Amino acid sequence: MTGLAIEPLHDGFGARITGAALSGDMTGKDLAHIREAIDTYSLICFPGQDMSDGKQLAVTRLLGTPEPEHVTFGKTGEIIYFGTVGNVGDDGSKVGNAATNTRYQTGNQLWHSDSSFREVPSFVSILHAYEVPDEGGATEFASMRTAHQALPEDLRATIEPLHVIHDYVFSRSQVAPVDPNHAASLPPVLHRLVRENPANGLTNYYIGSHARSIPGWSGIDSRRLLDDLLERATRPEAVYAHRWGAGDTVIWDNRCMLHRGTTYDADRWRRRLRQTRVIGTEKGVLLGANR
Ligand code: OGA
Ligand code: MN
Repeated sequence: MTGLAIEPLHDGFGARITGAALSGDMTGKDLAHIREAIDTYSLICFPGQDMSDGKQLAVTRLLGTPEPEHVTFGKTGEIIYFGTVGNVGDDGSKVGNAATNTRYQTGNQLWHSDSSFREVPSFVSILHAYEVPDEGGATEFASMRTAHQALPEDLRATIEPLHVIHDYVFSRSQVAPVDPNHAASLPPVLHRLVRENPANGLTNYYIGSHARSIPGWSGIDSRRLLDDLLERATRPEAVYAHRWGAGDTVIWDNRCMLHRGTTYDADRWRRRLRQTRVIGTEKGVLLGANR
């Protein structure tokens, strides 16, 4: 990838990288660049990619172990590596605002980190845009790393030793009922609230919609702390809204980033993106026996 150009996207995180063609044939050096860019920028966007599912899975494998998509796995035990984001089915047909799947996806409009509810949460998500609306449907990003750096000293000290329970059923049942088999496959999990990137020592906190409570704290004190931390991370000036262009491949670091979808008129527009994820390396503690 000679002739790479890197342009920052936002204060404290985000980069747009041009002159790079993502593929499963990338060499060690190019991969090292991408890994370093993930550690440094937390969010990298490669516009104009000639992508396919095969290529995307190959790129995903270059970055680590692909993560099985949890909805299908929870319901049927089948392992697939892709999630389809938006309102266009694999057969190309579009559904509208009233469709169950469109409503289910409104859960993604809450700030979250993908798979934070898993025993081993995701390292990165890779999302490629095939079809995008002319209006709406941006994905917003915010950094829990820059937010952690900006915390007042006393709050930093307070949260340093804490753990946090992430729970998919807690967060999703606020938007739509969760299939019982799916729910049983995802017991709550305990993670450290403050985490560190092993490559550069930079710290962040780890919250989002799946963050349910702080063990040892009352429900209401937990909620106040988690809401306060979320509000600090997602102040309007701290948010980058990615307005998708068809052909964009975006990779973000779920270890330290929050993101959320924004609305669009599914009756009017087609929106189709394909997502894969890479499994992380940091393991939490499962709080249930269903495995
Ligand atoms: C995701 C996600 C939101 C959106 O792909 O993980 O949360 O619809 N997407 O942009
Ligand atoms: Mn997501």
